[in-house]
Amino acid sequence: MLDATTIYADYQATTPVDPRVIEKMAQFWGNAFGNPHSNDHIIGWRANDAVVDAATSVANLVGATTDEIIFTSGATEANNLALLGLARRAPPDRRRVLVSAIEHKCVLAAARVLSELHGFEVQIIPVDQEGLIDLKALEYSLDPSVLLVCTMAVNNEVGSIQDIPYIAALVHSYGALLHCDAAQAPCAMDLSGLASNVDLMSLSGHKMYGPQGIGVLYVRQGLHDQLEPLIYGGGQQEGLRSGTVPMPLCVGLGSATEFVCGPEAYIERKRIAEQRNVFVGCLQDRDLRIYVNGPCSDCRHPGNANIRFDGLDARDILGSLQPKLAASTGAACASGIPEPSHVLRAMGLTKEQSNASIRFSFGRYTTDEEIDIAANLTLQTIASMRKKQL
Ligand SMILES: Cc1ncc(COP(=O)(O)O)c(C=O)c1O
Repeated sequence: MLDATTIYADYQATTPVDPRVIEKMAQFWGNAFGNPHSNDHIIGWRANDAVVDAATSVANLVGATTDEIIFTSGATEANNLALLGLARRAPPDRRRVLVSAIEHKCVLAAARVLSELHGFEVQIIPVDQEGLIDLKALEYSLDPSVLLVCTMAVNNEVGSIQDIPYIAALVHSYGALLHCDAAQAPCAMDLSGLASNVDLMSLSGHKMYGPQGIGVLYVRQGLHDQLEPLIYGGGQQEGLRSGTVPMPLCVGLGSATEFVCGPEAYIERKRIAEQRNVFVGCLQDRDLRIYVNGPCSDCRHPGNANIRFDGLDARDILGSLQPKLAASTGAACASGIPEPSHVLRAMGLTKEQSNASIRFSFGRYTTDEEIDIAANLTLQTIASMRKKQL
C-alpha cells in the first residue's frame, strides 16, 4: 500500500497513521479546535473532554485508570521523565539503577546522565543470545539500595518480548520500582494487564498507527509525588508535564489504541507473524548463509525479522534496495556515523555480524504479494553482491 514504488518493511521505525485515526483527528484541527486548559468556556471544556476521553482509551489499553496517564511528546520524553524524574526525588538510601543492555538509546542515555550528573550507580543487566534478559543476573544485582529497574517490554531491533510479570515480581520483592518502555509493545502483544505489573510505562503514538509527536508516561497511582518534572510552567497534567496538551494528537493516540487491542488485533498479529515467517522461510530456503538474529517466534514481535547476511554490509544492501524496499538496520545513527548495533553486540554478535544485519518489520498494511516481492528483491540483491565479491 502507501507508495506504489516502495514496499514498506520498516514498521518498527514508524507506522503509517491509520486512516480511521486521521479522520478522527481531522475534526479537532477544524471546528472542534480549542485549548483543553481553557476553563472559562465551552470550547475549552469540549477540548478537555476530548483529551480525557483519549487518556481513558490509553488507560483501557494497558489496564490503567485515566488519571495515571500523562501525555508527552513521545516515548523518548516519557523515558526521560521516568528516569530523571524519579532519580531527582529518590530517597538517599536508594542510589542504584539497573538497566537492561538492550534498552533504547534514550533510556541508556538518560541512565548515563543519572550516573554522570546525579551520582547514581548504574548497572547494565546482560541479555542472552536471543535478546532475553538474564534473569539470574538481574536477581543477583537486586538489593534494597536499588531505586529503579528499566526493562523494555519488546525490543525495537530483534523483537524479543520480556517476561514482565516475572521481572516485576522480582523487582518488587526488593522494594524497587519497575519502569517498562512499552513503545514497541502495542503491535506485538496483548497489553491489558501490563499496568498492574509496572510502576512506570512509556508508549509512543507513532509505533501504533497513531501520529508522531505524542506519547504517554503511565505513572502508577501514588507515585506522582515521587517524580520531579522535566518541564516547568503552568502546572498542567498534575504539574508533571507543563505545556498545552496537543489535543488533536492526544485524540489520535486515543483512537489508535482502539485498533491494537481485542480480537481483531489478535487476528492481525497472527496474520503478520505468518507473513513474516513466509518472508524468512523464502530467504533461508534459497540462501544458506542467511541467519535470523533474536528469539524464536513465541517470544518475538510478530512483524519483526532481524536477518543477518554474513559477509555483506547491511547498509550496502539497503542502499541497493532503494527505492524498491524500505527496511533498516534498526540501530540509531543520529550522528551520521554508523555504529554496530548495541543490541546485537549485547546478544554476543561480532561487530561484523552486527553490521551485516537488517531489521525488516511488517505490519497492518503488508500484503502477501509484498512479502513475495520483498523476499525476491532481497535475494536478487544479495546474489548480485555476492557475485561481485568473487
Ligand atoms: C523501544 C523504543 N523506545 C523509545 C522510542 C522513542 O520513541 P519516540 O520516537 O516516540 O520518542 C522508540 C522509537 O524508536 C522505541 O522503539
